[in-house]
This record gives sequence, structure tokens and C-alpha cells, in this order.
Amino acid sequence: MKNILVTGGAGFIGSNFINYILAKRDDYNIVILDKLTYAGNLENLIASEAKKNYHFIKGDISNKELVNYLFTKFDIKYVINFAAESHVDRSILGSEVFFKSNVLGTNILLEAARKFSVKKFLQVSTDEVYGSLDSDGIFTEDTPLHPNSPYAASKASADMMALAFHHTYGIPVVITRCSNNYGPYQFPEKLIPLMIINSLKGKKLPVYGDGMNVRDWVYVIDHNAAVETVFENGKSGEVYNVGANTEMPNIKIVKLILSELGKSEDMIEFVKDRLGHDRRYAIDSTKIENELGWSPKFNFEEAMSQTIKWFLTNKAWWERIITGEYQNYYETQYG
Ligand code: NAD
Ligand code: TYD
Repeated sequence: MKNILVTGGAGFIGSNFINYILAKRDDYNIVILDKLTYAGNLENLIASEAKKNYHFIKGDISNKELVNYLFTKFDIKYVINFAAESHVDRSILGSEVFFKSNVLGTNILLEAARKFSVKKFLQVSTDEVYGSLDSDGIFTEDTPLHPNSPYAASKASADMMALAFHHTYGIPVVITRCSNNYGPYQFPEKLIPLMIINSLKGKKLPVYGDGMNVRDWVYVIDHNAAVETVFENGKSGEVYNVGANTEMPNIKIVKLILSELGKSEDMIEFVKDRLGHDRRYAIDSTKIENELGWSPKFNFEEAMSQTIKWFLTNKAWWERIITGEYQNYYETQYG
């Protein structure tokens, strides 16, 4: 049995990871540490909460005493760090909490990993640490870091701290750098869920700038399968890029959503561009494919269609986010 501290497990990717992993493995004992910020939603974890190898603790990864206590109490030997402030637009409005959670929080976890001799520390990072590409070029693991937003800078700092802990203390750190994810339980501030929900509510769809910014979209389960693969077989001190060769301009995604929902393109509204908006991300996943045998399994059109259906059939989930009721779930379960 592996005692694994999974931070940020109530967020979009972390909750999908836990539901995915606990449905197929009983050799993982999962201890979730999540601050339940606006982005944390315990209702994402209803499918897993009754399992005996599921434990939830509300708290901050930058709380050193709490982190050390959990390492002792659960005899933690593995860490998967999903916890982070994750939205670029929010980081432009105010960067302090990004530094605190993403940089300081990761540092506190790394210090605990050192103190308690962890056997693996997986840092969930992002392709945004590499910066922006023009119409050609691709990010490999050797691309120099050039983060442009405060969010990306905080993630790059955390990566560098993690790699320094590997180099200096020999902590068995591995890093994944994935491109944009989509799928169930994504918080409706991000492009795809926001556009689906606005379409359903008859609201305008705000497209930044000319809508030609390009992202490489990965279905969340493909990302989580990559996290599992790197966690199990990744080589200490190594970085693994994760992408799905699905480059798409934002406007194409928005039109696809409208078409799937039978709505008019008149709902699109071009709005003022994001400050410092990265133009294009494209990721080369050859390393994880060749060295660890991972490859994306989901076809973009099908997985997008499934995602749109999920938001249609789980209207109650996102309506409870809009009303704020989702934040009561912790009290009803643990209060
Ligand atoms: P999210 O915002 O949906 O969830 C983040 C979770 O972390 C929330 O449950 C929140 O409560 C928790 N959290 C935040 N600060 C915390 C703190 N100080 N202590 C404890 N918990 C805290 O984010 P996400 O989209 O699920 O992203 C998860 C991770 O994956 C992040 O590290 C992000 O940088 C990375 N990532 C995201 C994407 C993407 O497309 N969403 C792509 C690549 C990498
Ligand atoms: P987002 O989902 O915020 O992810 P990231 O900024 O981490 O890539 O945004 C994806 C793309 O969609 C990005 O180019 C910004 C754009 N976007 C819009 O055009 N309108 C919106 O309302 C949002 C949230 C994003």
C-alpha cells in the first residue's frame, strides 16, 4: 500500500485523478490536502468519498505544521502536488496568493518530503512555464523557461525549486508539464466550461483579442493517465511534457461548442485582449511516449462532445457553483 498525499484533490484535475485512480487501484491510500478555495469543490469527489483508502483534510499546503503533522499521522511516503492557484486572469488581477500557494506551498511540501524521506514527489506543472510560441516551433523539455504571466512565473519557480531539491538533496522529484486540459468538473472560469455554460444560459461568449490564440487541448483523463505513468515509472529529476497534438485556435473551440449546442455564432463577442496574452502553446510529448509508453487515448472531437454532454446532464453541479451552494458541502460532511 502506498500512502500518497494528493494536494489540490478537490480541484478540476485533482478530483478527476482521484476518481480515476480509486476506481482502478486499491494499492493507493490517498490522503487529500485541499484548502477548498473558490476552485475546490468536494462535490467533485462524491464518487470516491466512501472508499476506505480515501481521506480528506481541509488545509493549506503552505501550513508547515499541518503538513508535517499529516506526514507523520498517515506515514506519507509519496506526494502528488496538484494544489495551485490556476487561473491566469486572476493572477493578472493579483499575484500574491499565486506566490504563496504555488511557490511557498510547494517549498513547504518539498521540505516535508526531505524531512520524511519520501520515495517520490510528483510536481504537476504546466506548459505555460515555457512562454509563448509564434506560428512555428514546439516546446520540448529542453526549451528554456520563459514564463509570461504571474501564474506561469509561479509555476516555473515551483519547478525550479523542485529540481533544486532533487539536485541538492537527492529528493526523488518528477515533473509533468501538460498543456490545457478539458473535461468534467472544470471550474466555469476556464475557456471551455465558461463557453458551454454561457451558451446554455443565453449569455454572450467573450473571446479575447482576435480569437486566434492557440492551445493544445488534452482530455483530463489522458493527463491523469500520464500523471499515473510518471508517478509509477518516471525517472527522478526528470521533466515530462504531456500533450495531445490537438492545437486549436480559441475561436474554433467556441464555434464548435455553439454548433454542438445548436446555437448561433451571433452569441460570440470579441472583447479586450488579456494582458500579455500568450499567442501559442504546442508541446512535444515524444519523451514520455518513447521512455514511458504513455500516449493520449482520447480523440478531441469525441471527448469534447462527451464533455459538452456532461455539462448538459450535470446542470445541478454548475448551478450550485454559480449560487455558491457548493461551498456548503464540507460543512455538511465534516462540520
Ligand atoms: P483548480 O484551480 O481547478 O484546482 C486547484 C485546487 O487546489 C483546488 O481544489 C484548490 O482548493 C486547491 N488549492 C489551491 N491553493 C491551495 C493551497 N494553498 N493549499 C491547498 N490546496 C490549495 O486547478 P486545476 O485546473 O485542477 O489544476 C491542477 C494543477 O494542474 C495545478 O497545479 C495547475 O497548475 C496544473 N495544470 C493545470 C492545467 C489546466 O489546464 N487546468 C494544465 C496543466 C497543468
Ligand atoms: P484559459 O482556459 O484561461 O487557459 P490558459 O490561459 O491557461 O491557456 O484560457 C484558454 C484560452 O482562452 C486563452 O487563450 C484565453 C482564452 N479565453 C478567452 O478568449 N475568453 C475567456 O473568457 C477565457 C476564460 C479565456
